[in-house]
Amino acid sequence: RLIKGEVVLKNVTFGYVPGKVVLKNINVTAKPGQKIAFVGSTGAGKTTITNLINRFYEIDEGEILIDGINIKNIKKDSLRSNIAMVLQDTHLFSGTVRENIRYGRLDATDEEVIEAAKIACAHSFIERLPQGYDTVLEGDGANLSQGERQLLNIARAAISKAPILILDEATSSVDTRTEKYIERGMDQLMKNRTTFVIAHRLSTVRNADLIIVLEHGEIIEQGTHEELLALGGRYYQLYTG
Ligand code: GTP
Ligand code: MG
Repeated sequence: RLIKGEVVLKNVTFGYVPGKVVLKNINVTAKPGQKIAFVGSTGAGKTTITNLINRFYEIDEGEILIDGINIKNIKKDSLRSNIAMVLQDTHLFSGTVRENIRYGRLDATDEEVIEAAKIACAHSFIERLPQGYDTVLEGDGANLSQGERQLLNIARAAISKAPILILDEATSSVDTRTEKYIERGMDQLMKNRTTFVIAHRLSTVRNADLIIVLEHGEIIEQGTHEELLALGGRYYQLYTG
């Protein structure tokens, strides 16, 4: 089991198809517990980087190390249990709320399910459902609001003990009150985990330990919010323009 959650990308180059480079010479070091934000225009390569950390694809050059171990030498199921994900489209299934949260951790007790829901700030809305944690969700959570589905997704990540977290923030806006809940849930979730966030909300970006600006598959700027604003480059354009 990997425990520290240090992630290092060294000179990573990758393309989905031969002859078309999508990421070029990427170097990133995430110390345990740090929060790294990827920003950049559409098609820049943000999702691709997270795909590579998950080893959904093999890289062409360079290496990716987790706690100093090349991910090629880590078993896929071990990698899965050490990386939690909250992605834009939540995949809920027709089953109870409890089953949906426990997904991937079938050994989890009812207490752990409730604890995870509390971390995600989902406990109070679940308790208000007709059968609470035993309420059956329609396919893909159709009987829940978008924000509620997102909170269940956060609870699902919270129940995993993975030291590494990948977040692809939703662009679509939920109401301000739900957004506040989601932010609180996320803060709890990120605590003590190395987090890679594909950030769309300025509030998330601003709080990151390191912001990486990607353009056409290359890192063009990196630093903290203040450093990048002072630089007056692409990041400055993105967040003041
Ligand atoms: P947004 O999510 O739109 O903000 O973009 P992104 O920064 O996440 O870009 P992404 O990493 O998804 O894509 C980078 C480049 O890889 C783009 O040119 C995509 O067209 C290409 N790409 C992404 N996924 C695939 C894939 O599955 N197959 C192929 N062949 N190309 C892909
Ligand atoms: Mg993307």
